[in-house]
Amino acid sequence: MNRPLFTARTTHGVRIAILGCVLTVGAAAFTVFEYYRSPYWNRVGLAPDQPVLFSHRHHAGELRIDCRFCHSTVESSARAGLPSTQTCLVCHSQLFRDAPLLQPVIRSAEENVPLSWSRVNTLPDHVHFDHSIHVAKGVACASCHGEVSDMALTAKGHALTMRECLDCHRDPEPRRVAHAQVFSRRTTSATVSCAILEPVHARPLTNCSTCHH
Ligand code: HEC
Ligand code: HEC
Ligand code: HEC
Ligand code: HEC
Ligand code: HEC
Repeated sequence: MNRPLFTARTTHGVRIAILGCVLTVGAAAFTVFEYYRSPYWNRVGLAPDQPVLFSHRHHAGELRIDCRFCHSTVESSARAGLPSTQTCLVCHSQLFRDAPLLQPVIRSAEENVPLSWSRVNTLPDHVHFDHSIHVAKGVACASCHGEVSDMALTAKGHALTMRECLDCHRDPEPRRVAHAQVFSRRTTSATVSCAILEPVHARPLTNCSTCHH
């Protein structure tokens, strides 16, 4: 008897098995890829726990306190900075001083221990980022952080992935706004003639070394 090693039937079975494996691996890879790209992985829209239930909607939205009152280094340095307890006490040393929600702030002042805010947006250490140049060149807070002044609890407005940085760096012109609009609400679509703004430098903003040193 000289039967072939693989009969037509076994070959068919093997093909189906291989196809099955390929599809399973493909589906798994797709799931991982989609999860990695999903807002959940990137934590968009999820607010971390904070030591005080601080609301941007009240303070920046309704009371219209300027972003720079609390994030005072955003125009001058790489970091926007977070407000000290003293900044809150400008108003709250009297206003709502006895409200239970404010007790962590009062305690922080009495015990001289800063509030430890949980970070919402972070980049890995290998990425270089600078707030001041973006502010100077008319990039609105909202284009990277979403409408913070609508947020009761602060959540990530955008994933801030490399792709998002590059999407703008390839062609920032249509995304720029007048300086006064950088901090104000709902300005992402209200672009202005860039003649008013300092031009963006000619050097390519998409070079790896722009963001990775
Ligand atoms: C009265 C003070 C105050 C004002 C005004 C204010 N903020 Fe904040 N901001 C805070 C505090 C406190 C935190 C930290 C707690 C939190 O994340 O909610 C914070 C956090 C943030 C964060 C998240 C920081 C991180 O960890 O990544 C962003 C983004 C932000 N603010 C943007 C803005 C923008 C944009 C404006 C103006 C529209 C603004 N803030 C106005 C006090 C303020
Ligand atoms: C310029 C004045 C001002 C500053 C500065 C300020 N607040 Fe307020 N805050 C208010 C006012 C006014 C209210 C009442 C808002 C309302 O109920 O409509 C308030 C309310 C609150 C409340 C009660 C809950 C709420 O949102 O109504 C908390 C908590 C609070 N502030 C925390 C903070 C913290 C933390 C800081 C510092 C990062 C801060 N505030 C800075 C004016 C201020
Ligand atoms: C081009 C995108 C971009 C713009 C525009 C931008 N931010 Fe940010 N912001 C970021 C990134 C990215 C981080 C995280 C930085 C890190 O982890 O090093 C951040 C972090 C922050 C933080 C946390 C504290 C800190 O200093 O890192 C605050 C507060 C903040 N931004 C406020 C603002 C405000 C207010 C504006 C507008 C005046 C603004 N941002 C404009 C991208 C942006
Ligand atoms: C909505 C547009 C926009 C987004 C989003 C954006 N940028 Fe920019 N970025 C600019 C503009 C405009 C400049 C200023 C270019 C100039 O004139 O030098 C700039 C400049 C920079 C510079 C300084 C370049 C230099 O050589 O001086 C760095 C670093 C930078 N961006 C990093 C980032 C990173 C990291 C992200 C993502 C987290 C990001 N940017 C997202 C528009 C953007
Ligand atoms: C405009 C800013 C910017 C430029 C230009 C840029 N990157 Fe990135 N890169 C980022 C940011 C932001 C991250 C972090 C992304 C995250 O955490 O999701 C990153 C992450 C990475 C990572 C880590 C992998 C990852 O997904 O976290 C590698 C590798 C990388 N970049 C390589 C490059 C190379 C190569 C170039 C040039 C072709 C380049 N980058 C240009 C902003 C930039």
